[in-house]
Amino acid sequence: MKYAKFLGIVAAAILLCGCTDTQLKNIDSSTGISTSSGNTSGENISSITTEKSEGTISKKHSISSTDTFDVYKNDTVNIVNGGELTVDGKMSSEKGGKIIIKKGGVLILNSDAQLDCDLTIEKGGKLIVGENGKVSGSGSITVVDSFDDIECNGSVTAKIVPPAPVTENGVTTVGGVLIVNKKYSIPSDFASELITDDEAGTGLIRDEAYDALCAMREASGYAMSIVSGFRSYRTQTAIYNRNVANYGEEEANSWSAKPGESEHQTGLAIDITSLEQSYGDTEEGQWLAENCHKFGFIIRFQKEKEAVTGYIYEPWHVRYLGKSTATLVHDSGLALEEFLGVN
Ligand code: DAL
Ligand code: ZN
Repeated sequence: MKYAKFLGIVAAAILLCGCTDTQLKNIDSSTGISTSSGNTSGENISSITTEKSEGTISKKHSISSTDTFDVYKNDTVNIVNGGELTVDGKMSSEKGGKIIIKKGGVLILNSDAQLDCDLTIEKGGKLIVGENGKVSGSGSITVVDSFDDIECNGSVTAKIVPPAPVTENGVTTVGGVLIVNKKYSIPSDFASELITDDEAGTGLIRDEAYDALCAMREASGYAMSIVSGFRSYRTQTAIYNRNVANYGEEEANSWSAKPGESEHQTGLAIDITSLEQSYGDTEEGQWLAENCHKFGFIIRFQKEKEAVTGYIYEPWHVRYLGKSTATLVHDSGLALEEFLGVN
C-alpha cells in the first residue's frame, strides 16, 4: 500500500472514532508521519504524505518489503534521538524533500532507495545501507561530521557532500578520513610508532590494513605480496632523492612522493605484488580493482585521475579506508581528493 493512501485511512479512522490522547501519542508528530493507532509494539509503518509536511520519527518504525517509503517535495522527515526507521521496501523521493537524521537517529535502507531529495546526517546520526540497499538518484547525502556515520554494506551512487577538512597538528582529515597528498602533507614524526630498523621500509602496515589484506588474499586466492608497506619519513626521503637523482625531478614527481607527502608513511598504504603498470591488466590486478573496496581498500591512483591525484596510474597501490568508506569512494567513481572535496 502506498503511504499516502494509508495515512488517509488512519486519519479517517481517527476522525471517525474520535481521537483520544492515547491514540494521538501513536502519531509521531502532528503532521506528516503516521503510525497505526493502538499499536504499541513499535513495529508500525510510517509515511510522509502531504505537501509541506514536517514529520518526526522518534521511535522504531519499519516499512515492509511490499511497501514504499515516499518523501514528497516540501516534506521534511526528522529522525531524532531514539528514532529508527527501517525501510525494507523501496524508497522514492522528490527533489525539494528533506530527510534529516539527527543525533541518535537511525535510518536503515535495505532495498532500492531512489534519493532525489536531500538527506543530511547530523553528528551522531546514522545511515545504514544494508547488503541489498542501493541508494541512487539526483539527491545528495550531506555528511556533517564523520564518514563513520554511514555504514555502507550495499551501494551508494547518490552524491555525497563531505564535511570541511580539519587540520590539527599538521594532519588533515575530512570526516575522519586522513588525507595525505601533494597538498596535504604529514609531519616527519607521524606514525613514528611504526618505525623499525628496516630501512627498506617494506612489510610493516597497520593491523587493520594487514587483517584486510589477509582477508583479501584468502578470498582471491592470490598471494598478494607486500612490495612496500610502511615507509618512514627518513626512508621516503632517501627513496625520493634517489629517484630525483636517477630520473630528474619532473619525472620523479609523477610517481614518487616527496617526504611527508606519501601515504606509505601512514601505514595504511600497500604496494601489492608488482610495480609494473601492466599489473593492472593481469587477472590479479583486475580482481584487485574490482574487489578491494569490499575489504576496505581503494586503488588510490587511477588511470583517468592522474590530473587530480598528481600521480600516474598505480594499479598496485592500495589505501586502506575501511570497508564502508572504501565502498562509498569506489561507488562514487571519484578519486579520494574529489570524494573528500579537497581537489
Ligand atoms: N608512489 C606513491 C605516490 C608514493 O611515493 O607514495
Ligand atoms: Zn605505493
